[in-house]
Amino acid sequence: MKVQTMAGFDSQKFVEEAVQQVKGAVGTSTAVIGASGGVDSTVAAAIGARALGHQLTAVFVDTGLLRKGEPAQAEAMLGGLGLRLVHAKAAPEFIEALKGVTDPEAKRLAIGEKFVRVFEREAEKTGAKFLMQGTIAPDWIESGGGPRDTIKSHHNVGGLPADLKLSVVEPLRDLYKDEVRKVARHLGLAVAERQPFPGPGLAVRCLGECTPERVEIVREACAIVEEEIDKAVAAGTMEAPWQYFAALLPVKSVGVHGDLRAYGETVVVRAVHSIDGMSAAYSKVPHETLDRISVRITNTLKRSVNRVVYDISNKPPATVEWE
Ligand code: XMP
Repeated sequence: MKVQTMAGFDSQKFVEEAVQQVKGAVGTSTAVIGASGGVDSTVAAAIGARALGHQLTAVFVDTGLLRKGEPAQAEAMLGGLGLRLVHAKAAPEFIEALKGVTDPEAKRLAIGEKFVRVFEREAEKTGAKFLMQGTIAPDWIESGGGPRDTIKSHHNVGGLPADLKLSVVEPLRDLYKDEVRKVARHLGLAVAERQPFPGPGLAVRCLGECTPERVEIVREACAIVEEEIDKAVAAGTMEAPWQYFAALLPVKSVGVHGDLRAYGETVVVRAVHSIDGMSAAYSKVPHETLDRISVRITNTLKRSVNRVVYDISNKPPATVEWE
């Protein structure tokens, strides 16, 4: 469902119709919603709150694959929606599910399955029969199916197991990211301006095996990239990218530490401009900012990382995330 007028996308009409759609689907039953504190799921949760009130429970899953400080930020974001909020601390089960998994699709499917098991557990506690999700158009387009090739299985689409016990309700299914942001602004949600973060989290930024140590490296590197680019944007030396982060590559290289040989990990910095995530152009980050990022990453993570590179690929042919 997408409300299009001569003047373009109509957020108010969209919200009214989405609220009715959710009410119609869930009726007098109850639902849980997977809420990460990101733009899509927060907008879906706000629509769910309007449609269902106390019939809806928001489940925030701490996967252990989140960015620095994210659980607290997400709780603050979701706390304002007037919903019952459950914080599911599930990091050990996600790390266990990822043990020995290096293939990107296998990772995404394992994570999607884990999410659903957590939602099912919470649904059982409340007797919920429905699972609301903030799935948007690029999620199911990229997840393939029918005549489409699977680019990557988004955790909330391709990752859904065949034996799912809950009926899925997805009010944002037909929207693109820029339209979700318009709806978020219309609803007065501060999350509207937040950069996107993938549902599978840091796992798709940790190429190779996601051990707790490697996830910690990429978490720290992502925080440094965000801080330095935020500073540069605030200082007016660059335009704010659409998304900016670090990924840990499965490549080690030779370096030197003092007088000693080092054989360390490689971090790639990624920053892109985009409108809807379907295509993207790499950001021309000033060299001074790249320099600060590189020095901070190699100083802070000097025991593990000795090389930092910048990704100058567009989408297509690359994608925004590396997995
Ligand atoms: P790609 O990497 O496909 O990413 O060019 C396009 C946008 O989608 C985000 N992304 C995801 N978002 N679940 C999500 O909710 C996912 O599985 C997922 N994979 C990628 C990505 O961060 C970018 O903003």
